[in-house]
Amino acid sequence: MPIRLYDTPAQYRPLTILGLETSCDETAAAIVRLDEGANPHILSDQIYSQIDEHALYGGVVPEIAARAHVGVLDKLIARAMVDANLGYADLDGIAATTGPGLVGGVMVGMMSAKAIALAHDLPFLAINHLEGHALSPLLEQTSGQQLGFPYLLLLVSGGHTQLLSVEGLGQYTRLGSTIDDALGEAFDKSAKIMGLGYPGGPALERAARNGDPKRFSLPRPLKGKPGCDFSFSGLKTAVRRCWEELPVKDDKARADLSAAFQAAVADVIIDRTNNAMDIFSAQQGTTTFVVAGGVAANVFLRERLTAASKTKGFAFMAPPLRLCTDNGAMIAHAGALRLRAGQNDALTISARPRWPLDEDAAKAHPASGYGRKGPKS
Ligand code: KG4
Ligand code: ZN
Repeated sequence: MPIRLYDTPAQYRPLTILGLETSCDETAAAIVRLDEGANPHILSDQIYSQIDEHALYGGVVPEIAARAHVGVLDKLIARAMVDANLGYADLDGIAATTGPGLVGGVMVGMMSAKAIALAHDLPFLAINHLEGHALSPLLEQTSGQQLGFPYLLLLVSGGHTQLLSVEGLGQYTRLGSTIDDALGEAFDKSAKIMGLGYPGGPALERAARNGDPKRFSLPRPLKGKPGCDFSFSGLKTAVRRCWEELPVKDDKARADLSAAFQAAVADVIIDRTNNAMDIFSAQQGTTTFVVAGGVAANVFLRERLTAASKTKGFAFMAPPLRLCTDNGAMIAHAGALRLRAGQNDALTISARPRWPLDEDAAKAHPASGYGRKGPKS
């Protein structure tokens, strides 16, 4: 990414950033202020969820998503500014998700941010959506512990599933990633198979609460194998097979199969994360584990990961639930950190539908998670 030095000493004064997020089915505008001590404060966090527009189709339709972003983004920006009681002169920069994601949607937010930056002579910050998620645990620290670099990150969203060593701003080393479906995608597709509706992840979690995880026996792909990669497509296929073979497809069956799915997912995730913890602690000499991204909103998985971290002697941290799924605050926050570090981007920068956090790893293994993020269906 072309980076030039910010020419005023931004790092010595508070920074207030407007952040826009339009890479999938959430339209979001938020304002985050970094104070002199680099502590973040969310001054406004506006989100419009497009669930109703896509529900009919059982997944995100890219063209509908892009049009919906166009329809509401201006209003959300205006509402964020009013809510934070700020004018454009009070802002220090405009950040927008520039990838990875559905390119039509990404362009809506990116072009809006560029236009505001140009009109008000403000720095523009092109943010990698995954970096927004990766840094989101720093945004609001709920556990009372101070999170600092480096930390081991499990990034689980609708388009990505990765274990990363987060060594600093812009410094990511991928330890493993999915070789097929992302975890959020597996949740969404399994929920769809069972007729749980859209969005599938939260619906499946709700259904699983009253389920018996032992009624169905599901595979644990890659469990016990060396390395930190994931595979979820076989699990989804097993869910389909179980569901199709059921003579009675009722709410009890939905609950039990959902509970079995979550139990299998948790077993796999913990197995892969344990391997990553061994590698990370040997490399970095520290023991902090963070989970972020939409699937990190799953309370069952958070509980299992909390217990697993304890067993391995790792501190466990996660953003509050509302900051796990897509939001503008994480984009504004990443923008503020980059501006504070003396970075911003040229207005000529293009959207990047694929944009891995660890470019070297992605080049070496393009098939495994080369920054893919696509329709959730
Ligand atoms: O990070 P995110 O909002 O968007 C992407 O960047 O993809 O993640 C969305 C994904 C969806 O697949 C959604 O079903 C899943 O996160 N998700 C959940 C839960 N809440 C959202 N999956 C499982 N349990 C949840 N509670
Ligand atoms: Zn996301």
